[in-house]
Amino acid sequence: MVQINLPQNSKVEKGKFFKDKTGSKNIRKVNIYRWDPSTGENPRIDTYEVDMDNCPSKVLDLLNKIKNEIDPSIAYRRSCAHGVCGSCAMNMDGKNGLACTKPHSEIKGDINIYPLPHLKVLKDLIGDLSTLYKQYESVEPWLKTASETEKENIQSKEDRAKLDGLYECIMCACCSTSCPSYWWNGDKYLGPAVLLQAYRWIIDSRDEDRKERLKKVADELKLYRCHTIMNCTNACPKGLNPAKAIASIKKMLATS
Ligand code: SF4
Ligand code: SF4
Ligand code: FES
Repeated sequence: MVQINLPQNSKVEKGKFFKDKTGSKNIRKVNIYRWDPSTGENPRIDTYEVDMDNCPSKVLDLLNKIKNEIDPSIAYRRSCAHGVCGSCAMNMDGKNGLACTKPHSEIKGDINIYPLPHLKVLKDLIGDLSTLYKQYESVEPWLKTASETEKENIQSKEDRAKLDGLYECIMCACCSTSCPSYWWNGDKYLGPAVLLQAYRWIIDSRDEDRKERLKKVADELKLYRCHTIMNCTNACPKGLNPAKAIASIKKMLATS
């Protein structure tokens, strides 16, 4: 039988325990993944007892409370706090999502918080998205037209409607980091977030580079690693359907 062992320095250890000091009767335990590359220590799970009587409703509020009142050393990204910037994406209770829109009341039992899966971790809850951003850049996510014009570039209502369900993407990476194909081939397969973005420009009636755009993604590794498992669509906190966008690109290629 094959036995697979993790390298010693990647084993997640039991970390520190921060006992409640407020005397609150309404306490929840929050387990948070911690790793600081500058210490040379293994990753660990720290546990915090939090007074929920004085905590607003979202997981991001909980993290802010812990950072402000218990342990200022935790690192995580956040900016808008309204589900718009995508920076607070993380894994909560085993599911990817946005900490600023996820109510902690939806999580039963202890609250477990990890970085997005299968990314290199930079520190604590911060994953390394540099590969994903390079892939995003590779699909040239901007309008391409041959001629510059001073006039408004008009689009019919019907053509504009084709962008619904695509333009709302905030590039949070919840979908790509829940996709098994992206886990194993993330350096070559573009993944659902970037392919949804690619499709957003492919079907924009004002764009004049459709053929080239399709040619660029028509690749065994970049596109056809998608096996329609649908994890991506289940993970999207904005209710978008990247699997459908990928299927639409495949259909366009098959019929063009
Ligand atoms: S449908 Fe495709 S992109 Fe979405 S999770 Fe499955 S393999 Fe990944
Ligand atoms: S499709 Fe959804 S999950 Fe994926 S990057 Fe866009 S908003 Fe995030
Ligand atoms: S902080 Fe901007 S989406 Fe959560």
